[in-house]
Amino acid sequence: MCGIVGYVGELACGEVLLDGLSRLEYRGYDSAGIAIWDGESIRRVRAEGKLFNLDRRFRENPIEGSIGIGHTRWATHGAPVERNAHPHRVDDVVLVHNGIIENHTALRQELEAEGRVFESDTDTEVLAHLVARERAAGHDLLHAVRRATGHVRGSWAVVVLDAHSPDELVAARHASPLVIGLGSGENFAASDVPAILRHTRRMIFLEDGDTVRLTRTAVEITAEDGSRVERTPKAITWDPVAAEKQGYKHFMLKEIHEQGDRIVDTLRGRILLDEDEVTLPSLATLEGIVPSLRRIVILACGTSWHAGLVGRYAIGGLARLPVEVELASEFRYRNPVMDGETLAIAISQSGETADTLAAIEEAKRLGARTMTICNVMESSMTRAVEATLYTHAGPEIGVASTKAYTTQLSALLLLALWLGQLRGTIPAAERQATIRSLRALPRQIEEMLGDEALIREVGREYMHARSMLFLGRGNEFPTALEGALKLKEISYIHAEGYAAGEMKHGPIALIDEELPVVVVAPRNRLLEKTMSNLEEVRARGGRVIAVGDRSVSELERHADHVLHVPSTTEWVQPILSVIPLQLFAYAIADLRGTDVDQPRNLAKSVTVE
Ligand code: M6R
Repeated sequence: MCGIVGYVGELACGEVLLDGLSRLEYRGYDSAGIAIWDGESIRRVRAEGKLFNLDRRFRENPIEGSIGIGHTRWATHGAPVERNAHPHRVDDVVLVHNGIIENHTALRQELEAEGRVFESDTDTEVLAHLVARERAAGHDLLHAVRRATGHVRGSWAVVVLDAHSPDELVAARHASPLVIGLGSGENFAASDVPAILRHTRRMIFLEDGDTVRLTRTAVEITAEDGSRVERTPKAITWDPVAAEKQGYKHFMLKEIHEQGDRIVDTLRGRILLDEDEVTLPSLATLEGIVPSLRRIVILACGTSWHAGLVGRYAIGGLARLPVEVELASEFRYRNPVMDGETLAIAISQSGETADTLAAIEEAKRLGARTMTICNVMESSMTRAVEATLYTHAGPEIGVASTKAYTTQLSALLLLALWLGQLRGTIPAAERQATIRSLRALPRQIEEMLGDEALIREVGREYMHARSMLFLGRGNEFPTALEGALKLKEISYIHAEGYAAGEMKHGPIALIDEELPVVVVAPRNRLLEKTMSNLEEVRARGGRVIAVGDRSVSELERHADHVLHVPSTTEWVQPILSVIPLQLFAYAIADLRGTDVDQPRNLAKSVTVE
């Protein structure tokens, strides 16, 4: 969602801010702005739409200066128009904000009653007025921000600049991420690491309640209770190049191609080669509860929820534990039953999804033990739980999740094997076969990616479809859901995923020659059943795109097209089956000319409810 960059140093601030914002574009936004102290006053430029609009305006009227703040806004309160874009200015204060001020209506009324005039429809402007009011009362900027945030409820990452103290920025965090980048003679603030990674790798991840004063040479952090604190900087080890397109047309395509390597990274050090065993040291704190565990509840949203659905089959099958998979947005409001013998697992690429965070907090409050499968170091999710199993997908920039999904599936399978080992529920042969097929994945993925051009040609035939149905059975039912989600979110073609066995209970009525049906039918123990569904579609004139093993001759006979997926063992198969669907959705979206990496209305990490 929204992105923040703040800079104080010696460089041309406009360039630092625009470059930083461009590296946050993937988060999704619909307007942008920057504000810079030019030596006499704070000048601001804002624009609707994409960053090039802001960039053009800035170049027409450049602002020279070396301290400033910038923002990309994803509209929540108020339309995506210039007057709602950040930075917001009130008196001499300018401010950028990520998050939501929940009590903004009451605060606005209070401030208006005091004679304050609002220029925007945003919740954020309330915060700017509050800071300005505290400044007018004589508080220095740090204390003004602390006092102002004391009045608001909700979530915020803010960075503030004030014309009366133009050598400093003040930043604050509560339930919305904010990172401080440490430089030499310069310092940075950002909502996300990539924004400032080309300038520094030394970062401080702020804690909730922190307020920070940043000057060129100092970073002073005040904790929630008002005491000065030191927070240990972390070194960011991933390469900024990982967040570049590296010659691919889109990040999504690059990320699809990276999957073999990222799965290797996720497995690395977690499989004991000699014994074909799994070791997960980061879960050591939970090891003791495994024998007495009675159930697992997985909490997630979107693609991560689909990963959880696949995980349910593997954990149920290998560790013989009952698993519930809940949409985090539903779980948090339904007064769920939890206890100390339940392990709640939050799955999240970003580690910042508001619903998943709230759900895991709720599970914790109700007494469950907690862990997360997460891709982002030091994210809010990893701080909220007892233990983290990191996926090592690297930065995922395309809004449509691809490598995050397949690394989540790999991590879930490691978890299922680990639980099964500790509970003594996996026959050795099955464990060995599963681990061997995990190891074979990179080679098989490489082989599948060779079909990209063929899949694109199939996509060309269906690029004008108005709707598509995706069917799958067993642990490939979530693959069907994920294939449909990929297609709809980037191509804007309506698509629905369905359990193949449910087709006769309703969706069969939709089938005619206008509705392409994608049937996920890899070689597994349910293949015959899936084939029956495929034939039911054909019998009603439907066109079928099968995802399966080309060596299954019936598939070639009965489907209009086969997107090839090599065969592997049962629990590993969904990691492969989804890849042709990612390529299929990508091809159609690209052929239709949509904004593949930043589809309309979507944000990479959904930090509001
Ligand atoms: O960062 P998270 O994994 O918590 O995000 C959850 C969903 O917003 C996300 O998976 C979304 O559905 C994908 N971008 C879809 O491709």
